[in-house]
Amino acid sequence: MKLQVTVLPGDGIGPEVTRQAVAVLQTVADVCGHDFQFESHRIGGTAIEQDGTPLPERTLSACLASDAVLLGAVGARKYDHCTGAMRPEAGLLALRQALGGYANLRPVQAYDAIADCSPLREDVIRGANILIVRELLGGLYFAQPRALDQDGLSAYNTMRYSVEEIERVAHVAFREARTRRKHVTSVDKANVLETSQLWRRTVTETAKQYPDVKLEHALVDSFAMQMITTPARYDVVLTENLFGDILSDEASVICGSLGMLASASIGGPVALYEPVHGSAPDIAGRGVANPFGAIQSAALLLRYSAGLIEEAEKIQESVQRTLARGLVTADLAGRRKRLPSGTDAVGEAVVETVADLLRSQMAYHAV
Ligand code: IPM
Ligand code: MG
Repeated sequence: MKLQVTVLPGDGIGPEVTRQAVAVLQTVADVCGHDFQFESHRIGGTAIEQDGTPLPERTLSACLASDAVLLGAVGARKYDHCTGAMRPEAGLLALRQALGGYANLRPVQAYDAIADCSPLREDVIRGANILIVRELLGGLYFAQPRALDQDGLSAYNTMRYSVEEIERVAHVAFREARTRRKHVTSVDKANVLETSQLWRRTVTETAKQYPDVKLEHALVDSFAMQMITTPARYDVVLTENLFGDILSDEASVICGSLGMLASASIGGPVALYEPVHGSAPDIAGRGVANPFGAIQSAALLLRYSAGLIEEAEKIQESVQRTLARGLVTADLAGRRKRLPSGTDAVGEAVVETVADLLRSQMAYHAV
């Protein structure tokens, strides 16, 4: 299998965690005899610095010419005061739009090995395994008009959705549900917003094509509470862009750290894989960032962009085993007060484990 991957380390802890994710992918390639090519490019604050724009033309064309894009994080304190197109985040949003992945998959699960890292009770999170399907290219993030008024005294954004935008992401949610527990919870604010009324009607209509999948609707405010009080009750959670952004950070509490979460943005010509966490400038450059979110994003890349399901599963298993050994970064010290390891040590443990697992599987197939 040949795969051209564009790597966008980005800002803050992005480069540190991405390096580990690439090492894991390279190991999979070496052991299984795949040919993965990696090419790095700039995005975000790093790109503003060197190229004068958060998404340089060269970066974008490299991404569009590759099979998949693996991104670290964007955002730097230096640009906090900037607005509009000169924010590092604007580069990421422009990239998402250009790559066309409208369905952002964010799996969240409670890992037994680190159950003590969640502030929630173990019996509350046990068995939780949620797939958030966040609409990524519409709603308040992209719709026009939007502006800060000239006098600086008011500002506005537009929430807009079309039936087509809702349908296409709903299909992804229903298809994913078919591979899981066949349950979709669609989250909206239909008691107040017209966009949500359209959302609810369209999702209900789309569901008719999936009679084997159970659909329920929930209002975002009460859902935010339910998800955290009874997380094991949910399977696939389908929602619009901003609600999905907020709910996915909240959901990270279930698994113990935002640093664990991975994401895949699919549906467009080139899929984009990125951990859910940000650039974390406060800990950048210290070698303490959690690489599991980036590594699990690499697993999603193999699953969705290369169809290498077994390899992806071996990466997941290696993450679980590394957690079980107590080899974790400082954010996962937990109530058991584990001694923290650095980013590189955690990454290397995953690399070694995945190599072992893949080799023994190949030996098994050979006999
Ligand atoms: C995320 C992030 C981004 C978003 C930011 C960095 C633009 O919070 O991926 O969840 O809001 O989508
Ligand atoms: Mg977010």
